[in-house]
Amino acid sequence: MRALITGITGQDGSYLADFLLGKGYEVYGMVRRSSTESFERINHIIDKVTLKQADLLDQLSLIELIKDSKPDEIYNLGAQSFVPTSWNQPVLTGEFTALGVTRVLEAIRLVNPKIKFYQASSSEMFGKVRAVPQNESTPFHPRSPYGVAKAYGHFITVNYRESYDIFACSGILFNHESPRRGKEFVTRKITSEVAKIKLGKAKKLYLGNLEAKRDWGFAGDYVEAMWLMLQQAQADDFVIGTGETHSVKEFVEIAFDHVGLDYKKYVESKKEFFRPAEVDLLVADNTKAKKVLGWQPKVSFDELVKMMVDADLKLQEMARVA
Ligand code: NAP
Ligand code: GDD
Repeated sequence: MRALITGITGQDGSYLADFLLGKGYEVYGMVRRSSTESFERINHIIDKVTLKQADLLDQLSLIELIKDSKPDEIYNLGAQSFVPTSWNQPVLTGEFTALGVTRVLEAIRLVNPKIKFYQASSSEMFGKVRAVPQNESTPFHPRSPYGVAKAYGHFITVNYRESYDIFACSGILFNHESPRRGKEFVTRKITSEVAKIKLGKAKKLYLGNLEAKRDWGFAGDYVEAMWLMLQQAQADDFVIGTGETHSVKEFVEIAFDHVGLDYKKYVESKKEFFRPAEVDLLVADNTKAKKVLGWQPKVSFDELVKMMVDADLKLQEMARVA
């Protein structure tokens, strides 16, 4: 089996590549041209994957990439994925995160409609939630240009399944984190600063809304769900999350506690990190994924926070030695 991953240099792309290599897949990764290579997350497997240049903004490059790599499965993880940036660059976010999906689907339709397709959809689409917890039938009310773009990506995936009979699945994934998470996302921002504070390299941690609640899981568990969706007899959409919700404040408390510090002495909330419109509460109803895919998360919230703090402590200590 051969898989093509867009966004292979990102958090999820790197875990998915690890997972698929473990299953014996030939893994192709799409990367965009850059003057400096950013292969940090896939350096450990760089000799085992085939990287090809193309861009979600460029239709012809996607068609050529699919002709060239001949994948059985495509995982479309590439996107502008940071919610605050989507207010500053709403048009570009729409181009990558929304229209980029159509470009990949069009390339599949033209080159080989038998290719199975996974779309990285997001719980951010639920936004101002209409029901608690959220499942596959919960209506969307996105609260950011990113969420709006993801809602487009979701519906175009469903539409290509219904219009052209393409095996196209939309995975509606709730927040998932890891030591490979980008440092601007709140979990990694917290754990990397906790490590610096513990080692005397920083004094304060400035955050925004501490009351927001998210359903946080481990990215390594979630990539298995992506793969499972493409192994089913029929293409469908699935909510993937833990079913538990925690506030940013709880994450902060556990992270500081883990290194023996009291967060109240270090954390300050600043207006500049608040968003124009917030998603207050996300929590997944993962009943369908459990029943149909036989999927369930393995890493608990507590384990996730500690895993990330430990990894950042190690990184900071290595930097100190170097
Ligand atoms: P990430 O770490 O930000 O990775 C994003 C990837 O997309 C990177 O490899 C990036 O490449 C690539 N990319 C961006 N623009 C591109 C373009 N124009 N052409 C080609 N590639 C492009 O995101 P992630 O956390 O792994 O998330 C993976 C996907 O799942 C994203 O679509 C995200 O929106 C979605 N999602 C994530 C979560 C979550 O909690 N992590 C939850 C739900 C959905 P560069 O390295 O070149 O920047
Ligand atoms: N980034 C950030 N930085 N967020 C903060 C901060 C801060 O300093 N302080 C509080 N927060 C709050 C945000 O307001 C938000 O409510 C919550 O922490 C989580 O923010 P992020 O970690 O940036 O993630 P997100 O929920 O906006 O988006 C992530 O999850 C989505 C799935 O629901 C991203 O991975 C998206 O790509 C993904 O689709």
